[in-house]
Amino acid sequence: MLELKNVTKIFGKGSAEFKAVNSVNLKVRRGELAVLIGPSGCGKTTTLKMINRLVEPTSGQILFRGKCTSESNHVELRRNIGYVIQSIGLFPHLTIAANIEIVPRLKKWSREKRQVRTRELLELVNLDPEIYADRYPSELSGGEQQRIGVLRALAIEPDLILMDEPFGALDPITREQLQVEIKQLQRSLKKTVVFVTHDMDEALKLADTIVLMKDGKIIQRDAPERMMAEPVNDFVREFIGEDRLIPLPNITPVSEVMVTDPLVVSEKTSLQETLRAMQKKRSDFAVVTKANQTAAGIISAGSVQEVLLKKGIKLLDLVGDGPQDGIIRGSTTIRDAAASLTNGAQVLCVVDRNNKPIGLVNRHSLLKGLVDIWDENESGSAED
Ligand SMILES: Nc1ncnc2c1ncn2[C@@H]1O[C@H](COP(=O)(O)OP(=O)(O)O)[C@@H](O)[C@H]1O
Ligand SMILES: [Mg+2]
Repeated sequence: MLELKNVTKIFGKGSAEFKAVNSVNLKVRRGELAVLIGPSGCGKTTTLKMINRLVEPTSGQILFRGKCTSESNHVELRRNIGYVIQSIGLFPHLTIAANIEIVPRLKKWSREKRQVRTRELLELVNLDPEIYADRYPSELSGGEQQRIGVLRALAIEPDLILMDEPFGALDPITREQLQVEIKQLQRSLKKTVVFVTHDMDEALKLADTIVLMKDGKIIQRDAPERMMAEPVNDFVREFIGEDRLIPLPNITPVSEVMVTDPLVVSEKTSLQETLRAMQKKRSDFAVVTKANQTAAGIISAGSVQEVLLKKGIKLLDLVGDGPQDGIIRGSTTIRDAAASLTNGAQVLCVVDRNNKPIGLVNRHSLLKGLVDIWDENESGSAED
């Protein structure tokens, strides 16, 4: 989706020359949320702005959808890449609807198409279009304004969204609320996002991948739980914070962080019945068990739906190639579980020593479990 190859940015000339970004190599997959993080002045904003050519790289290449951005028209490029910044940049004299419709207008969408899209977007973040479409930015709270800033970036359905400390100016509660919303939006709309922050908590909450920068260079690029478990050097360790780096990832078993009470269906259950059970429990995944109640594997609602109308397909046909696919013991460490997940599985079934299902884990639950554990540790040490 996006690739930076040996990208360098030098500001100034001669003796005043300054390398703000130094030979950065980075790939961002479709649907991935990558967080650029690092101390102030390390080159995050410059890196982001080079992606949509608000800043031109001094050397190196940036490929967006396989095409070198230096070859595309930069106005067109910017219209296809959403951009959200902290100071929102809503036009005060335009209504909320008109603000959201700026780029759709530039793209010459019909009035009707714009209106439909604006309603759809407002509903996406639970702002009633009847109330909000015709208001002016000053009539909205900070959090609401920032939501509009995000919607504006989404208006033309860009594949890629760049966000530069978008929530930095919000109070902590509003900020957390927006973090949850943006993560949900990104997941459900399957958007690729590059998000800049200097706040590690924010990065840990949002990121599929954390890219930690220092002095214009990438120091470590990893999934959050991996970075916490295996920081490459002291800088990373310090930046993450020693208190978060307690060696828990090595020793804590997944049974402590898994989601318990998974939906379990026996292999004999029909596809229709399985789907109904999933809907009822609002679960996208279920564990399939054999006659002796041991786990055979995991199925997703999507995979059941796909074959619903085909004849002769049984649940066991859907649980993957090997019978042990996606199954781990409760005693497996979080770190090992995270490693299995990076091998492509979305969700793992946790079993007890008799191979009976006791829970499910995904990336999110592993991470949330870790965060909860630190929080407990933190409040524990605060009381000391
Ligand atoms: N237009 C510019 N001219 C000169 N120096 C700049 C310019 N923009 C940024 N810099 C410098 O480049 C470095 C990286 O800046 P920036 O990418 O904004 O950092 P970050 O977003 O990580 O805080 C800083 O030292 C900054 O002062
Ligand atoms: Mg910045």
